[in-house]
Formats: sequence, C-alpha cells, structure tokens
Amino acid sequence: MTTSTQASSAPTKTVVLGVTGCIAAYKSAEIVRALQKAGVRVKVIMTEHATHFVDPVTFRALTHEKVAIGLFDDPTDPIHHISLAQEADVMLLAPCTANMLAKVANGIADDLLSTTVLATTAPIVVAPAMNVHMYENPATRYNIGKLQIRGVHFVEAGTGYLACGDVGKGRLADVEDIVSATLAQLGIKRDLAGKHVMITAGPTVEPIDPVRYITNRSSGKTGYAIARAAAARGADVTLISGPVALQAPEGVSMVYVQTADEMLAAAEEAFESADIGIFAAAVADMKPAHSADHKLKKGADDSELSGIELVENPDILETLGAKKGDRVVVGFAAETDNVLENAQKKLIAKHADVIVANQVGEGMAFGTDDNEVWFLDHEETEALPLMSKARLADAILSKSLDFLL
Ligand code: CTP
Repeated sequence: MTTSTQASSAPTKTVVLGVTGCIAAYKSAEIVRALQKAGVRVKVIMTEHATHFVDPVTFRALTHEKVAIGLFDDPTDPIHHISLAQEADVMLLAPCTANMLAKVANGIADDLLSTTVLATTAPIVVAPAMNVHMYENPATRYNIGKLQIRGVHFVEAGTGYLACGDVGKGRLADVEDIVSATLAQLGIKRDLAGKHVMITAGPTVEPIDPVRYITNRSSGKTGYAIARAAAARGADVTLISGPVALQAPEGVSMVYVQTADEMLAAAEEAFESADIGIFAAAVADMKPAHSADHKLKKGADDSELSGIELVENPDILETLGAKKGDRVVVGFAAETDNVLENAQKKLIAKHADVIVANQVGEGMAFGTDDNEVWFLDHEETEALPLMSKARLADAILSKSLDFLL
C-alpha cells in the first residue's frame, strides 16, 4: 500500500490573486493551495511592498507560474496588465491594504496590481486586512461603500488581536471564508468544508502467480470524479484506489492498493474519521486461496492452472456499513439484470444509506464518460437522466449531504 498527495488534470478557471503589503500576506499561500485544491488555476500578482513580507519564490513554487510584480517586468508581454486582467475569471485581493482599497475605489492605476484591477471585467473579491483604526476610519468605510455599490464582493475582516498590538476589527478573514467567496463567483460550492470523505475506486487485482491475476472491469473514473468534486467542495478526501490509468485529483490523499484485503485495511483506517464513505470500487469477488510464488505451468495432463481454488473476498462495503454509526454510507450496484431489485437487496444487506444503481453491459458504464443511474434510499427510488460522471459525482455528494444534515 502506498500513500501520496498529487497533482492532476488541467484546471479550466483562473483566479488572479493580488497580494499587497501586509503582515497577513503569508496567508495568501494557504489561499493559493485551497483554490488549487478546488481545481482552480491561480496566478499571483504582488505589489512591491508585498515582496517585503513574502518572497515571490513562495508563490512561484506553489503556482508553477511567474509571479507578476512590476508593470514593465515582463519583456515578452509589454501590456502585461491587460493580459492578466483578461486571464482572470475572478480577481481576488487578499490581503488588501487600506492603500490598495483606496486606489481601487478611486480608479487609481499606478502599479501592476491596481492597473490590472482597473482593466479587468471579471468579478472582484476583496479581503481587507489592516489596523483597526485604519479599518474604522471614515475614509476606508467610504471606500468600501463605494466598491460595494460597484458590485465588488467583500469578505469582512475578522476581529481579534492584530499584529500591531491593537485588538479589534482588521484581521484578514479566515482562509476558508475567502476561498468560499471566491469560488462562489465561479459557481463552486463549499458545502463539504470540514468533512472527511472516504472513497474506494477502481478494480482490485488478486494474484494467481507473479504473472496472472483475477480482476474486475473498472476504469475508476466514477470514484476519481467523486474525489475531485468532493475536494473542490472543500472536503478532506481519502481516495483508496486499485490500479487505474488515471491521474490523482489535486489535493486528495491517495492510498494505492492492489488486493481487496489491502483495500479493506486502508478503508477501515480512513473510515474511522470519515463523515461520508463512498464505495465505488469494483472489488474482485473471489481471490485464489493460495497465490503461487512461481509462474504456474500449463500441461496436457498435469496443468498447474487447472482447478485453482478460489475463496471469497471480504465485502468492504458490508463490513464497514455494519459499523457506520453516524456516517453516511453510499454503495453502488452494477447490474446486468433486475437492476432495481438487486440494488434494493444491496441497500439493505450492506447497511447503506444510498445505493447508486446502474445497468452494465456492452458499452454501458465501464470506461465511459457518461452514466445513467438510479438513487435508492430507504424511502424512495429516483431515476436520474444521462449525465457526465463529473455531474453525477456532484449529484452523489449532494445526495450524501441530505443524510448528513
Ligand atoms: N463491494 C465491496 N466489496 C466487495 C464487493 C462489493 O465493497 N467485496 C461494494 C462495491 O464497491 C459496491 C457494492 O459493494 O459499492 C456492490 O458491488 P457489486 O459489484 O455491484 O455487487 P456485489 O456485492 O459484488 O454482488 P454481485 O456481484 O452478486 O452483484
């Protein structure tokens, strides 16, 4: 079993994050990571003052992109502020000083960041951070009011001990609140923040000998799509994966396994702290009673391959469903016949809250990007229309949340 957290497929939305000269600038690094975990590309602009608090190398390392600072720094892009302004799907200023707030409120464009803000047509989110008296100063209140009238979204500063020693309002808001407000502009919900979601995905492989194995057909796409969607919605995600040809989703804790026994051990561990368990793996039902340490030989009369004894694998969903407690448990039922009847039996036998049932067969479900399913719970059965596995992943998470609340 191996564990890791890795990067994934190319994000489609860009947040341009403006970092200004404030002691809270170090928190912008956490904002970058959280946005990336939600599947968003982040491009950073720093003011010259901000570079006194955090080295641009930090943001360059986190984003794998150049950090923009000066208006004329990039000789390959003479109108850098325009290209940055156009790249932004959301412009986020965090932390935003009183000075930058005043500039943006009054349309002043005297450095790269303020010029880019003036040039963008993207929604703007501002998370101010400053001394309490600067925050309460009528000039700042007036500037905030002006920006709110223009549709700029504010993430109110928090109250508490400030770096200057004063106590009051002016602390940068919580990273999660800033990230939620930013993602809301991109239509991404954060309703799983603070929740631990455990997912099994892909097939398991059960060795017969060093060369051969028993397995099930599974691309792992559904489980991976659920993991990606859960991370984007703010969850801590553990994805326990059999061997698949897919990249790990961003910000997800990966546990790679081969056999059903390994998957069960990993799932038991992750389930301890999970709020939601989603069992999307196509676990091999049987395994050889003994796995040979040498390649078994064929032969007319004395084939070592004939009569391989098989024994049943543990049922991971059933084992953990039996000790679910307050957790939400979601299973799958891939059926060729009597889909709903079989799914109903699994719902009860495996102690699940929800079974996602689908018809399988030639060209259906396995390895495809779309799926048509039913949701069965103990009250009702709902038929969902044909949809992408990404949309289905969101629907499964929303359904799980109904049981959590
Ligand atoms: N499952 C599991 N461990 C197993 C077998 C299945 O956790 N050893 C889970 C699957 O991840 C899925 C659900 O149980 O969520 C149903 O799996 P499925 O393959 O449809 O059914 P089986 O229980 O294997 O029953 P059958 O093969 O008879 O349809």
